[in-house]
Amino acid sequence: MGLEIHDIAHSFGDRTALDRVSFDIAPGVITGLLGPNGAGKTTLLRIMLGVLSPDRGQVRYSDRPVGEEDRRQWGYMPQERGLYPGMPAGDQVTYFGRLHGLSGRDATSNAHALLAELGLEDRWNDRTDKLSGGMQQRLQLAASLVHDPSVMVLDEPFAGLDPLAVESLSETLRLRARGGRTVLFSSHQLDLVQDLCQDIAMVDHGRTVLLGSVSTLRASSDRRQLRLHVMAPNRDWLHAYPDVTVVTDEADDLRLALPPGIDPLDVLDAARAAGKVVDFGLDLPTLSQLFLSAADRTLDPAGVR
Ligand SMILES: Nc1ncnc2c1ncn2[C@@H]1O[C@H](COP(=O)(O)OP(=O)(O)O)[C@@H](O)[C@H]1O
Ligand SMILES: [Mg+2]
Repeated sequence: MGLEIHDIAHSFGDRTALDRVSFDIAPGVITGLLGPNGAGKTTLLRIMLGVLSPDRGQVRYSDRPVGEEDRRQWGYMPQERGLYPGMPAGDQVTYFGRLHGLSGRDATSNAHALLAELGLEDRWNDRTDKLSGGMQQRLQLAASLVHDPSVMVLDEPFAGLDPLAVESLSETLRLRARGGRTVLFSSHQLDLVQDLCQDIAMVDHGRTVLLGSVSTLRASSDRRQLRLHVMAPNRDWLHAYPDVTVVTDEADDLRLALPPGIDPLDVLDAARAAGKVVDFGLDLPTLSQLFLSAADRTLDPAGVR
């Protein structure tokens, strides 16, 4: 039984930040709350943590509203980082562990383990404000995970990180999810995180525009394209697939747009029956392409339509 965002709405004055958002967050998988800046992600996460009260709707767990008792077991990494600049890194994480009710001994040993996991073990004694931005961010993550929370809510944990730090943080989240924890994080960098999240809730202007499993959404999209390098000029075999459209057909390279429900392997078999296929590939849309379709926005010039 997971968490449920149930019909949540919130306005700041006459600006609607969230307009009746609902989705489920399952334990044991990584869920991404994705969307552009201003979509309402931070507002929703703050409501989940009880920092803001929604105008309507509820955060539910096991079919009852989430309470303060539940939230004490959670870990929250806010978008505005809240570390003490003058405190040494290790003490900082230990301190947050104590705040969450750990004994001094457990807090210290968890802090050591987390700093090691996040590649900061040799920074234990360094003042927080002497660390690089990316290191401070990893330290903030360590501070939110030190009590081994059952539910992790992380606001833009990847913003500003270099690729190595992204990979290290991703691995930390995968490890927690595999251990059965609930992991929800927000990001405006859709393609950066498309291989990390199993489930997504995509929001735009306070509304959900796309929900579900990333692999299902990408594989069932109408933006799949089959690339074929065929050593045969004949295209008659395509008549059997009236719904398949030819995107490009240059020299021996054929690019086909496949509507949902068409099995690319069937099309490949038909091509092979008609001539020699020397190379092929299936291109699935990226999360930003799916977002642009779902949010019905105009595509950037590099997009594919
Ligand atoms: N404290 C606030 N007061 C007024 N408006 C706010 C406040 N916080 C957020 N907003 C507005 O709510 C909308 C959603 O913001 P936010 O949840 O921060 O989006 P995101 O995190 O997806 O970038 C934006 O239009 C933003 O300007
Ligand atoms: Mg935000």
